[in-house]
Amino acid sequence: MKRTILVATALGLALFAAGCAKKEVKNPIVTARHENYEQVKQAFRAIGDELKKESPSFEVIDTNAEKLDALAKDLPSWFPEGSGPETGAKTEALPVIWEKWPDFEEAAGKLQTAVGGLVAASSAEDLGLTGEAAKNVGGACKSCHDTFRKEDD
Ligand code: HEC
Repeated sequence: MKRTILVATALGLALFAAGCAKKEVKNPIVTARHENYEQVKQAFRAIGDELKKESPSFEVIDTNAEKLDALAKDLPSWFPEGSGPETGAKTEALPVIWEKWPDFEEAAGKLQTAVGGLVAASSAEDLGLTGEAAKNVGGACKSCHDTFRKEDD
């Protein structure tokens, strides 16, 4: 009985220590990057939501496509050297980003091109083209994530 209590106490302490060790490290660059991605996500979601409506508003799509355009152009600057896992902060940015920087920039370039297509299609108020362009944008997100972002665990 006593032994059980001792073991239980030791276990409790170990768990407590593990909890402390896990305390999140913050890094301002990583935090800012996550906030930027939050904006990317919201703008892209707003476009997707609009496209699901019976008569989508090109004004809403346009506003968000322009936002996405500005964000996509900035994207590489959110990844200065040394802002990966070595910061100790929680990040899904893989070291391969900096090992293969030209490839990463190319992936960001693909997003910029796709978003440019989306801006053009929505300015032209062409629903079919806008839908396709939005799909291309989604493809550009995924293709970069597949290579450069750690999978959620
Ligand atoms: C050039 C590569 C690249 C492109 C293009 C890209 N992402 Fe990402 N994305 C990343 C990387 C790398 C991370 C991990 C960042 C981190 O955790 O520090 C990430 C993280 C995210 C996150 C999570 C942020 C967080 O708070 O953890 C979201 C949401 C996201 N991306 C959405 C998108 C969407 C939507 C698109 C397309 C419109 C997109 N991304 C395009 C590379 C990219």
